[in-house]
Amino acid sequence: MINQDVNILAIESSCDETAAAVVRNGREVLSNVIYSQIDLHTIYGGVVPEIASRKHIEKINPVIEAALSEAKMTLDDISAIAVTYGPGLVGALLVGVSAAKAIAWARDIPLVGVHHIEGHICANYIENKELEPPFLCLVASGGHSHLVLVKDYGDYEILGRTHDDAAGEAFDKVARAIGLGYPGGPKIDKEAKNGNEDAIPFPKAKVHGSEFDFSFSGVKSAVLNYLNGCQMKGIEYNRADVAASFQKAVTEVLTEHTINAAKTLGIRNVAIAGGVASNSSLRARMTKACEDNGFEFYHPSPLLCTDNAAMIGCAGYYDYIRGVRSGYDLNGIPGLRLGER
Ligand code: KG4
Ligand code: ZN
Repeated sequence: MINQDVNILAIESSCDETAAAVVRNGREVLSNVIYSQIDLHTIYGGVVPEIASRKHIEKINPVIEAALSEAKMTLDDISAIAVTYGPGLVGALLVGVSAAKAIAWARDIPLVGVHHIEGHICANYIENKELEPPFLCLVASGGHSHLVLVKDYGDYEILGRTHDDAAGEAFDKVARAIGLGYPGGPKIDKEAKNGNEDAIPFPKAKVHGSEFDFSFSGVKSAVLNYLNGCQMKGIEYNRADVAASFQKAVTEVLTEHTINAAKTLGIRNVAIAGGVASNSSLRARMTKACEDNGFEFYHPSPLLCTDNAAMIGCAGYYDYIRGVRSGYDLNGIPGLRLGER
């Protein structure tokens, strides 16, 4: 009997996670192996691209082997190889892309290049089997803050974007300023639980004139000014209050813009994605706002919000069944735009 299942071997290496996964028929994750380099970069206060590339080279083959073995498969069972080819750090992307091309060529398996942000959005399909386009998705990660209308599989319209820092980047910078270190998001999230989010009225991260766009550099500067002010006056600031108040300023705006866009467009299905989507305050605000407005709210579990290869396998599946194929000239594209090939 011919096996009708589509098994995608997915590879992700765009930043500081070396990851591989096997995904069956788009939404069933058979394995999801993530080697996180976070500990290596923590001492430098952020990701060092050269170190990330070197570690990816060391880890990529063992991670791919582990993903196949956990899925109890060999390359003979794989229908296509999906790999993140942008956006991201070019040296890091190249490791995954080269590994994927080598396996595809050696075993004559179709190759599908996947957009990293498309992967983040598709993470929502994995645990929400009923979710289908159209829906609205807030993508907030370390490098991106986008409000995206998912019109269909592979068909995206960007409604809003950040004019400066990405939301995750602001979390990372503020965390560094208050001595929490890298990665800032999860550390601020934890610290904020002991603080009062109404203690310090940081300005809302808004952009004048463009309803769905974001700007986070203002709120970041406001936090830095507040810290300087405290230092000059010889006052000790309350770290938990700063973390909680900053987190509120960011997550309130992310929520408001998303809900406003859903109302304007008449879309009732709302999702979040990307590393910042694992933030507890954002998830709580979005849950309440969606409930209040009668919207259906979708979110991946935290492990599928941050970088992983299962989401790339899911996005790669929908690309593959639409006939998308990449050649052996596939390259890492650091500034790849959503919807571009
Ligand atoms: O999606 P991701 O893993 O990588 C990129 O594609 O950028 O996102 C990483 C970002 C980092 O900036 C990190 O601080 C942030 O997501 N992040 C969080 C949380 N967990 C990760 N931000 C806020 N709260 C969290 N719990
Ligand atoms: Zn990411």
